[in-house]
Amino acid sequence: MSIVDQTREGDVLVLTINNPPVNAFSPGVPEGLHAGLDAAEGDGGIKAVVIIGGGRTFIAGADIKTFDLPREQAPDLRGFIQRLDSFSKPTVAAIHGTALGGGLEVALACNYRVATRDAQMGLPEVKLGVLPGAGGTQRLPRVVGVEKALEMMLSGNPIKATEAKQLGLVDEIVEGDLREGAIAFARAHADARPLPRVSERTVGADPAVFAAAREGIKKTHRGQLSPSLIIDLAEMAATRPFAEGWDAEARLFMQAKDSPQSRGLRHIFFAEREAGKIPGITKDTPTTEIKSAGIIGAGTMGGGIAMNFLSVGIPVTIVETSQEALDRGLSVIRRNYENSAKKGRLSMEDVEKRMGLLTPTLNMEDLADADIIIEAVFENMDVKKDIFTRLDAIAKPGAILATNTSTLDVNEIASVTSRPEQVIGLHFFSPANVMKLLEIVRADKTSDSVLATSMALAKRIGKVGVVVGVCDGFVGNRMIHRYGDEARKLVEEGAKPEDVDAAMNALGLPMGPFQMSDMAGLDVGYLIRQHQAKVRGLPKPDGWLDRIVEMGRKGQKTGAGVYDYDENRRPKPNADIQRLIEDYRTQKGIQSRQIGQDEITGRLVYSLVNEGAQILDEGIAQRAGDIDVIYIYGYGFPAYHGGPMQYADEVGLKNVVADLEKYGQTPAPLLKRLAEEGETFAQYDRERAGA
Ligand code: 3HC
Repeated sequence: MSIVDQTREGDVLVLTINNPPVNAFSPGVPEGLHAGLDAAEGDGGIKAVVIIGGGRTFIAGADIKTFDLPREQAPDLRGFIQRLDSFSKPTVAAIHGTALGGGLEVALACNYRVATRDAQMGLPEVKLGVLPGAGGTQRLPRVVGVEKALEMMLSGNPIKATEAKQLGLVDEIVEGDLREGAIAFARAHADARPLPRVSERTVGADPAVFAAAREGIKKTHRGQLSPSLIIDLAEMAATRPFAEGWDAEARLFMQAKDSPQSRGLRHIFFAEREAGKIPGITKDTPTTEIKSAGIIGAGTMGGGIAMNFLSVGIPVTIVETSQEALDRGLSVIRRNYENSAKKGRLSMEDVEKRMGLLTPTLNMEDLADADIIIEAVFENMDVKKDIFTRLDAIAKPGAILATNTSTLDVNEIASVTSRPEQVIGLHFFSPANVMKLLEIVRADKTSDSVLATSMALAKRIGKVGVVVGVCDGFVGNRMIHRYGDEARKLVEEGAKPEDVDAAMNALGLPMGPFQMSDMAGLDVGYLIRQHQAKVRGLPKPDGWLDRIVEMGRKGQKTGAGVYDYDENRRPKPNADIQRLIEDYRTQKGIQSRQIGQDEITGRLVYSLVNEGAQILDEGIAQRAGDIDVIYIYGYGFPAYHGGPMQYADEVGLKNVVADLEKYGQTPAPLLKRLAEEGETFAQYDRERAGA
């Protein structure tokens, strides 16, 4: 089997691409396809050509791994498409699986497209910070109309073959064998002339469509480069000759591809997939199928966790200590589902189906049959130990016993059971039914099978699972604590809280540190600080933020925290708080100074990076890429920066170290070493993976 097989079926030549796993347009694919067209051209007996993918899919796009190759070494997708567009014999794309990006662009350059009913097609380039660069911006609007094309290119989401058929993107849905159906279709159109070519079509559009799209991306793609380039190119498709748009597209594609944003998004694409790989865990590691779940605690976390299971059809038994708490928890779950139904995301029938899978109980013994039990009660070691002792007696052999703790020692929790190998941490992020991140905490004795089952479960419930080790706060919260410390220090030294938050908003984070702590509740951090000081025998903490909490301002839940809040929960700085901060500085003899946005951004992001490097060195995170995935899916760090570690790579680790030292922070040994060796975190990951 070669990378592109040529098979003659009478007067039709079938070109089958064999480039597993997803038939990306890698080196060798264009050469093979050109050879196929050469063969068809030189053989008078061939009347039409079918292009089809071997294995699970049609072409899933350009090979993203080749994006940073010098142009002459990268596979020439545009060259092939140009030839295909002017080919003298009918060409048919036979699509199954997903025709994405360059894959759909190849299909659009064929004269015809046929597809299986379950095939999907789209132009997802925006998700990689680029734009369709092989004719997609010019051809898709000419087929489906400018508005639909913009929707597809700006969202990056694929459409189903049935919709594609209605839009004229697909000429025929093949019900039986795709290959046979495509050959029959090719034969039926072998003599059609002139050949239909998308590049020869024209399309018009109301200028208001572009204005609306430009307005729309300010909200949906704030701060991003490629969406506005996509709109410019769609406008060219509607107003300029094809050749002009085709040339402009090549230029703008390179501009987008060479941007830090595209590097960041591509980094995350691969980091997310790498995060699923755990040394020592293979396809052969035994897993158990999770057919039922038990959840202890019907509060915000427990309820949100339950929804993840119910939404994919897994029955849940949920336990509380009082009927009132149980009723309240259930009504919140129902209300959340009903809100989704109101927004049209769910039918009322589905709401009832999901609620029907939920069994409320006050009796923990009812968890005896559950395949997995997740404890989601408040953060108190004694309470958790008590629950796990009881669970050990109740749960069936083989059940996974998980804790949703965000800070406590999972080894200690596991130690009270007779089966620590079955115990794991599953740290969901609030709101647990929405946030995509799941930190999977591997304790010392957690078995490979429990780990592998938990990873598979994460995927099944639509989460991105990242394996982390046991330490205070694991990866995400341990880093966020350093970030919070630095934010408070910045204010001590002279910044206003709103300036600190504004710097993070400008970086693309939906919330800065004080907006976030006001939302989570200022008392959470306050209690942790008080507790830690007590444990370490230190004096009672008395920072400016502690004083705010002691005024009864605990954040949004009390209507006020660092900020005041109006009825729409919009934060507003408060003059008394500003005075409190100034008094605090005077009392502590701190000379206030002006702090610019660059310093704020650097100090906050580098505090994450510095702690991240330490975490990496300790083996709590497996890869720098894992830390980035955690920050993007758990903390709203903008994906187009690729996460804090990738951000540091872009800035240069030498510069990060220099800035940390300038601002009085001690760089972590690993960070310092990499900086001295001129390395990046990405290189560190690659070296450790043996690549
Ligand atoms: N290039 C290189 N590798 C790719 C790839 C691509 N376009 N698409 C997927 N892969 C790799 C993944 O990295 C993964 O590798 P691994 O096994 O070593 O980790 C493997 O293929 C399987 O991918 P998934 O784990 O994601 O498999 P799924 O079955 O869950 O999903 C998919 C398949 C829907 C095709 C998904 O991989 C996907 O969305 N891929 C990206 C598609 C895309 O963005 N295409 C556009 C590329 S840009 C372009 O075409 C530019 C052009 O306009 C010029």
